[in-house]
Amino acid sequence: MREKILESLRSGAFQSGESLAKSLGCSRMAIWKHIEELKREGYRIEAVHRKGYRLLQEPDSLLPETWQEKLTTHGLGRTVYYYFEVDTTQSIAHEKAREGAPHGTLVLTEHQRKGRGRLGRAWTSLPGVGLWMSLVLRPPIPVEHAPHLTLLSAVAVAETLQTLGYAAMIKWPNDIYLHGRKVCGILTELNADMDQIGYAVVGIGINVHHREEDFPEEIRQKATSLYLDDPARPPVRSHLLLLLLQRYELLYEQYLKEGFSSVKEKWLQYAIPMGWMKVSTLKESFQGKMIGLTNEGALLVEDEGGRLHTLYSAELEMTER
Ligand code: BTN
Repeated sequence: MREKILESLRSGAFQSGESLAKSLGCSRMAIWKHIEELKREGYRIEAVHRKGYRLLQEPDSLLPETWQEKLTTHGLGRTVYYYFEVDTTQSIAHEKAREGAPHGTLVLTEHQRKGRGRLGRAWTSLPGVGLWMSLVLRPPIPVEHAPHLTLLSAVAVAETLQTLGYAAMIKWPNDIYLHGRKVCGILTELNADMDQIGYAVVGIGINVHHREEDFPEEIRQKATSLYLDDPARPPVRSHLLLLLLQRYELLYEQYLKEGFSSVKEKWLQYAIPMGWMKVSTLKESFQGKMIGLTNEGALLVEDEGGRLHTLYSAELEMTER
């Protein structure tokens, strides 16, 4: 039944629920159930009142068997946990890490019911349209260098997207923007004691196939996807994933060998030039301008009175002076 529905939809034309039901000898309810199932698997199917269903896109599979043999990394993505649907890949990655998962373990899903963003926000993660992943890292670095990982992750995503021809830029600390709209968010969570990082979980969410209506109304003007940025070039998630893992590993190994300076230089090269901005931290709000990065990876901002602030966590908003 499922295959027959797909066969009809592959004509590219609208198929009404009624005509599908008639030709397959079942109820419209049964057709609707199959359509919902197909959507959960990542098929993009448009449903229009009085017209019926139309297939917009077939799923772009993230099943490890479709990409893992092409992976050239030593560590990243060698151990993979792939799920059709989860609450959040972050919790699963923490669980696996506590159970001893090796460095580079990747947790990947089609759909997150409760995707987590920075600062306690939710991260919308619809089925089949994004790259929703968490990496378990075991970096041999002191806790105070943890911000390096955050910045390194941003550079890895920005460089990957640039390789694919997108004009990716970084907004501090690690949001990735395309033409003024956010396309990717990164959430770094640590398990550490006073001086040593036990492990880090780096969660990366890239909006890939989203159409405008896939974003909640309140972020529609601020968010984008690779598809929306350039509809002529539909991206393939497994290809993006492979490139990202390879790029990430290269940068990570270079960082462990040579230290933070190479990451810092690249981060500054991709950073969105920020003029005057409103800086909001948990403690205070002020106007300031970016001066650079410290060697710990914190942001240095000078306020209107000439005072220097070292920021590890803050919200930045561009303003007129
Ligand atoms: C942000 O607020 O910008 C960070 C968003 C991070 C989203 C990714 S999607 C994969 C991983 N799992 C989550 O629940 N969050 C991260």
